[in-house]
Amino acid sequence: MDKIVILTGAGISAESGLGTFRDKGGIWTRYPLEDVATPEGFARNPALVHDFYNQRRAQAAQAQPNAAHEALGRLQAEYAGDVVIVTQNVDALHEAGGARGVLHMHGQLAHALCNACGHRWDAPAAMAPADPCPACGHPETRPDVVWFGEMPYHMDEIWAHLSDADLFAAIGTSGNVYPAAAFVQEAAAAGAHTVELNLAPSLTVSDFAETRLGPATEIVPRWVDAVLSGRA
Ligand code: APR
Repeated sequence: MDKIVILTGAGISAESGLGTFRDKGGIWTRYPLEDVATPEGFARNPALVHDFYNQRRAQAAQAQPNAAHEALGRLQAEYAGDVVIVTQNVDALHEAGGARGVLHMHGQLAHALCNACGHRWDAPAAMAPADPCPACGHPETRPDVVWFGEMPYHMDEIWAHLSDADLFAAIGTSGNVYPAAAFVQEAAAAGAHTVELNLAPSLTVSDFAETRLGPATEIVPRWVDAVLSGRA
């Protein structure tokens, strides 16, 4: 198998202490997503949105990569073929775990974006409404995170990788959000073997040829060992 495409969701960072969205006590059970994760919510109350992302940025900055992140870094380093990691997560734990070239389809907490000129820069620990853009000075600045109703990043590149994948794995995602939830069907149509690694079956579990259930820190290293030894 020479090309592996991996999709990750909040579940891979859960054991690093970062909350998931839809599990019991998840982020969307504590914050109305329409207020903090939509362009309309940002226009209505930018201070609330910045506060939400400032808190998550602070938590993510304290978090450490776990054995699942590190196993994917090892897979990229040791696998003979191409290993592409696409994440819905906005933390930087894949990179901290040794992964390279991660495609952050929902953006990154560590980046800020200027809506006026498109400039991206390293976000300060705390952003505030109308922070001036360091490039053009305009105040239309925001967290560089993709909100509901906005186009995810890197989609052309992601569809291209899926169309020539030999193995597709989804790790720690509930299959609630599209287009990510459709990646398994795209990969299967291209002839890839598909495997879901999750704590509980996702909404799209029936689209996968194989399922491995358990905490990511246990099942991901075991799966990576199987792939590297040609047993997966
Ligand atoms: N190990 C493996 N999987 C886990 C673990 C764990 N320790 N803990 C939770 N999970 C699984 C849950 O079973 C669930 O299927 O992770 C998944 C988390 O699902 P969600 O909370 O819906 O997160 P995610 O799928 O990443 O959400 C996708 O929705 O709100 C948007 O932009 C946000 O990127 C996010 C997108």
